[in-house]
Amino acid sequence: MNITAIEIKNLSFNYGKLKVIDDVSLEIAKGISFGLLGSNGAGKTTLIRLMVGLLKPKTGSVFCLGKPPSPATARNIGYMPQLPSLYSELTVYQNIDFFARIYGLRAHNTRNQRVDEVIKLVDLWPKKNVSVSQLSGGMKQRVSLACAIVHNPPLLFLDEPTVGLDPELRVHFWEYFGNLTAAGHTLIVSSHTMDDAAHCQKLIFMREGKVIALGTPDELRGAVGKPNTTLEDAFLYFIRHGEVKSHVQ
Ligand SMILES: Nc1ncnc2c1ncn2[C@@H]1O[C@H](COP(=O)(O)OP(=O)(O)OP(=O)(O)O)[C@@H](O)[C@H]1O
Ligand SMILES: [Mg+2]
Repeated sequence: MNITAIEIKNLSFNYGKLKVIDDVSLEIAKGISFGLLGSNGAGKTTLIRLMVGLLKPKTGSVFCLGKPPSPATARNIGYMPQLPSLYSELTVYQNIDFFARIYGLRAHNTRNQRVDEVIKLVDLWPKKNVSVSQLSGGMKQRVSLACAIVHNPPLLFLDEPTVGLDPELRVHFWEYFGNLTAAGHTLIVSSHTMDDAAHCQKLIFMREGKVIALGTPDELRGAVGKPNTTLEDAFLYFIRHGEVKSHVQ
């Protein structure tokens, strides 16, 4: 059985003349939460879009669940973009139902049941029939997560999923993500918060399109070599001093 969810080899990508992903090689095991951390513009969203197949590599390769990303592999993938792409005039229910249909949940009863289930999961049941335009930012974020998970994909890409969530809901999201990985799903999560990072089994720190450090939160903290190093200290250390591809093991 293939135990690798993502395999990236010597991946580079440019927007025009700007090199945004610079010779990244990476393997992500199945069944873990894998965190992407880096400053604004480090390339996290671009890397996620390359893994999902929304962007094509300039050089190098991406294998997603053993195959190059394609419309055929899309059903096994859930993608929550950094900015929610929802239909604001449709209701919460209609948005999630729309995504359920494009992901191939055809049987009416099963689909209704699953849409209801994810609405409850993101705690929006009372807003089920409210149009998305009338929701707060955090609520839109929750609808966006529901759309990404409605087809119960084995591989989930979440681009800054906890931005704008209140602390209680953030805890709730991570409990749910923990249940997903325990059930064998793989989560790839970008974030700026060390709270999110601490929930991940493995992390990379990115700077200017490069992976400058990779390891577990404990390995990354330990690599700084000073007592009582927090994950935030480790992040700042690597961002300021990290050599390209420090593989912390
Ligand atoms: N459509 C685009 N056209 C041109 N340049 C782009 C485009 N999208 C992103 N970029 C550039 O690519 C680089 C990486 O952007 P990306 O969105 O991947 O960063 P990020 O790590 O996700 O940042 P953030 O934390 O702000 O979300 C930045 O320099 C950005 O300006
Ligand atoms: Mg981004």
